[in-house]
Formats: sequence, C-alpha cells, structure tokens
Amino acid sequence: MATMRISIARHGANPLRPASGNGNFTYFRPGVAQPSKWHQHRSLSTSTSTSPSPAGPPIKSPVIFSGIQPTGVPHLGNYLGALREWVKLQDSAEEGTKLLFSIVDLHALTVPQDAKQLRTWRREAFATLLAVGLDPKRSTIFYQSSVPAHTELMWILSTVASMGYLSRMTQWKSKLQLPEDASLEDSEARAQLRLGLFSYPVLQAADILIHRATHVPVGEDQRQHLEFSRYTANSFNHLYGDIFPTPEALISPAKRVMSLKEPNNKMSKSHADPKSRILLTDSANEIKKKVKVALTDSEPKISYDPTNRPGVSNLIEILSHFEGVTCQEIASEYETASLRSLKEHVGSRIADSLAGIRERYLGIMDDKSGYLDSVAREGGEVAQASADLTMRKVKKAMGLA
Ligand code: TYM
Repeated sequence: MATMRISIARHGANPLRPASGNGNFTYFRPGVAQPSKWHQHRSLSTSTSTSPSPAGPPIKSPVIFSGIQPTGVPHLGNYLGALREWVKLQDSAEEGTKLLFSIVDLHALTVPQDAKQLRTWRREAFATLLAVGLDPKRSTIFYQSSVPAHTELMWILSTVASMGYLSRMTQWKSKLQLPEDASLEDSEARAQLRLGLFSYPVLQAADILIHRATHVPVGEDQRQHLEFSRYTANSFNHLYGDIFPTPEALISPAKRVMSLKEPNNKMSKSHADPKSRILLTDSANEIKKKVKVALTDSEPKISYDPTNRPGVSNLIEILSHFEGVTCQEIASEYETASLRSLKEHVGSRIADSLAGIRERYLGIMDDKSGYLDSVAREGGEVAQASADLTMRKVKKAMGLA
C-alpha cells in the first residue's frame, strides 16, 4: 500500500490549485478502490471541492481537522469514510502538521438528546477514536464542548453567513424529513425548525476555522458542509482580511458506505434497524450475522452494478476497501460463486479487520485509571490554546481587541 503524505506547497500558495498537470482535480472512480493514493500528494486529488480557490493567508504548516457526532457507537461507514483515514493521515503526516479530531457533542444537540444517553455516547465515541489508532501523543483529541471558542467563533461567523445559502442546504431538511426543495416558507419547516439545526453548518465552519484548518478528511456526505465552510472563510476574509485558510476537503475513497438493509441509503447511526449497520464494537458473530441477512437480490451470478444491484455492489465495495483491489476484480473472482459464499467472505473479512479495534475499545472502556478522561482533558487544553491563537487574530481584525 502506498505511503500517504500530505505535502503542501508553502508560503501563500493557493491551497486548492493542483500543483501540476492540467489543472483538473482527479476524481475517484466509483467502485474502484484507490487505497491511500488520494493523499500521497495534494496534486493527486486531495480535493474534490468544486468552487474556485480564492487566496487565503500564507500556509506555514498543514492543519488537519475533523469531527464526529457522538450519536451512537461509530459504524463501518464512519470508519471507512473517516476514522481509518484520520489514522492514516496521522501516521504519515510530516512533522509540523497539526492534527485535531473532535467529538462534536454540541452538534448532537441539534436534535433532542437524552442527557444520560449522550453522556454515554460521548465516552463511547472518544474510546472508539483511541481504539481505531488515534494517538494522543500525535493527535489532539477533544470534546467540542470543552473548547468554548468554537461557539464564540460561531457567533462571529453567523454575522457573515448567508441565510439564503443556509436555507438551500440539505441537512435541516433531511433531519426534519422534508423534501429537498422545502423552503423556510413551508408550514412544516416553520413549525419544526430550530435555529440550532438551521445554523448547524455555521458551527461546523467554526470548528474548522477556529483551528485555521487547511485539510478536512470526511466522507462524501459532508461535501456540502465543507463548501459552506470555504464560502464562510472567504466571506470573512473579504471583509476583515486574510485570517482563515480556505479549508480543503479530503474525501475518503470510501465515499459512501451504504446501509445493509436499504442499500440505496447511506449507512447511518439513526436508521431504525440495527441490522442496517455494523458497529465498530460488534462481535465477529454479530458482524457475520448482519452481513448474512444484508439485503441483496435473487440474481444467480455475482456482478458489480451499483445502479441495478445496490445490495451486492455495496458488499463488493466494502470488501474492496479492506482488500485494496477493485470492485471489478472482486466481481470477476466471485462471478460464478454463490451469494452465500461472497457474504461469508465479506463477513469474515470485516470481522477480522475490526477485531483489534473492538478489543482495544473494550479495554479502554474497562479501564479504571481515568486514562480516557485525562486524554480528553489534555486534548481540550491543547485545542483551547490553538483556538485562542485564532480568536486573538479574529478579535484584532474586527476591532474587538
Ligand atoms: P458524522 O458524525 O455524521 O460522521 C462522521 C464522519 O463519518 C463519515 N460518514 C460516512 N462516510 C462514508 N459512508 C457513510 N455511510 C458515512 N456515514 C458517516 C462522515 O462523512 C464524517 O466524515 N457534520 C459532521 C460532524 C462535524 C464535522 C465538523 C466534520 C462537525 N464539525 C468539522 C468535519 C469537520 C457529521 O455529522 O459527521
């Protein structure tokens, strides 16, 4: 497997312009596993952002930031779409690269939460980040709510964020189960929409910009939020001077892992059926059972065809992300095999790959020495110091200091 490196041209280079070639970004081909190549060098398709790239301040060193909501134990989609990539970036980052990963607990509050449940989920999410291999000596891992500057900057950014832009975004509509073309004028929206859910993307932009992040590794579903963060950074810079780099989205090769029960929808923590997702804490048996009952079809042969055979194709894609081979290769290898044997292989492969994570997770959750809390405390302090540096610049630029 290729070694990953983020190597950023320094001192004022436009962080989004490809360093060489024809000026086009390389897009991932769906269904083709492209292990790690995507972040070998930024000219090799680190960005799938679509808007033009305005200049930001000079970039001295890369800053990588990403977050995950503590709304349930992270699942296979979170792992392949984000967590596994965070660890790869951490393990290959050049010296001087800052890495911050946050349990974004304030974002979880945009839909009602039970306090006891949320307290448990925060810890579980934190333990999972450690279990997948984030190393507190190298990466700053922290709870968003322990760094008040995230919300302070959110207020400031809300003074430049456009209501029109926010109203066109999809997340508030999907959370309220409204159609994509719903508007603020719709009576359902007026009755149900809360300001926190509507302004969710402003807090996400603040998470990224408060650390002056240059790169944000996420799954495909976060693309719109990343575009909004870029727009917000540029709007602020336009008014107050070059404070924020324009953050670049690093979309994982596993762009969108699909639900095992509704393979046209992404795997998610909120789906009613627990068999629709594989949790990183599931036992080998649970994993194999979930894969065995995954929704597929009754065609006799195995083929890779995401449009017409989404269930089988999802299993093939998952396998390709673990085995580092293309979906077409897997499909030809299994062409004449039974669906049952493909499922058995996929189930075992996932179970074997996640076994170490589960073991470490259980160890961390069992630990009575206060390890997790001390990592979270230290992470919070480091993140606060990083955020303070930015807030000083912001306040100076705006006349607040
Ligand atoms: P969240 O908690 O929904 O998901 C965390 C990460 O997992 C990725 N992901 C997936 N990738 C592939 N297939 C899937 N089925 C799948 N499901 C989830 C997500 O793309 C994400 O990278 N709004 C964010 C959290 C956030 C954030 C931020 C992220 C808040 N502030 C700042 C980056 C930077 C969210 O709800 O992610």
